[in-house]
Amino acid sequence: MTRNVAILGAGIGEKHLTAYARLTDRFTVTDICDLNTDRAQRLASQVGARASSELDAVLNDPAVDIVDICLPPPLHVPITLKALALGKHVILEKPIAGSLREADMLREAEANSSGRIFPVFQYRYGRAFEGMDRLRQAGFLSRPLVASLETHWNRGSDYYGIPWRGTWEHELGGAVLSHAIHAHDLLTTAFGPIVQVSSFLATLVNPIETEDCAAISLRMKNGATATSSITLGAAGNTSRLRFIYDDMTIESDNSDEYPYTPGEADWNFQARDPLRQAEVNDIIASIKHGSEGFEGFCTAIADALDGRPGNEVTLDDGIAAIELATAIYHSDRIGSQISLPLDRILSICNGLTP
Ligand SMILES: NC(=O)c1ccc[n+]([C@@H]2O[C@H](COP(=O)([O-])OP(=O)(O)OC[C@H]3O[C@@H](n4cnc5c(N)ncnc54)[C@H](O)[C@@H]3O)[C@@H](O)[C@H]2O)c1
Repeated sequence: MTRNVAILGAGIGEKHLTAYARLTDRFTVTDICDLNTDRAQRLASQVGARASSELDAVLNDPAVDIVDICLPPPLHVPITLKALALGKHVILEKPIAGSLREADMLREAEANSSGRIFPVFQYRYGRAFEGMDRLRQAGFLSRPLVASLETHWNRGSDYYGIPWRGTWEHELGGAVLSHAIHAHDLLTTAFGPIVQVSSFLATLVNPIETEDCAAISLRMKNGATATSSITLGAAGNTSRLRFIYDDMTIESDNSDEYPYTPGEADWNFQARDPLRQAEVNDIIASIKHGSEGFEGFCTAIADALDGRPGNEVTLDDGIAAIELATAIYHSDRIGSQISLPLDRILSICNGLTP
């Protein structure tokens, strides 16, 4: 069956549209809504959808099954709440909320709706991560030791020319919340939940309110540790990941070819026991190119809605990302280590929810 999707926001919404256009047996994009009607029209004409600028009219259309929210961050919570109250499913771009209180409101609204929320973490979908899953199934990767993450990207005046970016009020956070949120999601997917955070944030690259550099130390519930290094002042764009387990070292592609689709590259999987390397190579070689990035993300949602859950991003994952970001900001603000779970009164932008 196919489900009718309305895409709200035609910036990154264009990439979502490309994925839906490859999955026409699962999704039909019926509406593109954007205040910028030229932008909406350009996307809508690619798939024969309607273009409009009226959010409420699109939300109230009973034919729309899924609302895909690609709007600036402050609209994420209010539009999600409206959509859930109307029984729609919501695909929700990052960050899902700016505070834990808001994140909890989403949880309550989802519990009271026939609709579900699917936070967007499309980096999870790619053959490198499928490789990690298969290795786990084969008995590898049971004891994580240490991980290092680098979100070393290049953002300048062009990027910050869009007025909502770089502000606490409209972006809700900086590079930690907007850019490294993907690497942090990959870390928790690979290593499990985080229990302690210590961080240093700085604004060194662009004349913006929010941070654009960070050094973060993390302790996982299972005892493993990790570091995350972030800058928007690198010469190019690289997302570099190293996951070290007691039986294997896994390293992402280090070129600048795959900054936003790291799982689609060829990674290096090195067994600690050289006698097991051939087995590892066979597992990795057996993985074919499948649905990656947004396409993989949307496929997992369609499967979940069709009664085959397990591979989709859940609201709990989105809330965990907000809790981690909150802890990172709070640690830098108070100059101390933070333990999770957090007091729900904390928020990202000002430390405390009013
Ligand atoms: N998952 C990812 O990798 C990824 C990448 C980029 C952006 N994003 C997220 O997607 C969201 C949008 O980012 P973007 O880069 O596309 O921003 P953008 O500014 O390019 O696009 C947002 C669009 O929303 C429209 N809009 C704003 N208010 C509206 C309203 N009330 N009604 C209708 N349309 C409205 C704007 O006209 C604009 O075209 C952000 O939350 C961002 O963090 C996610």
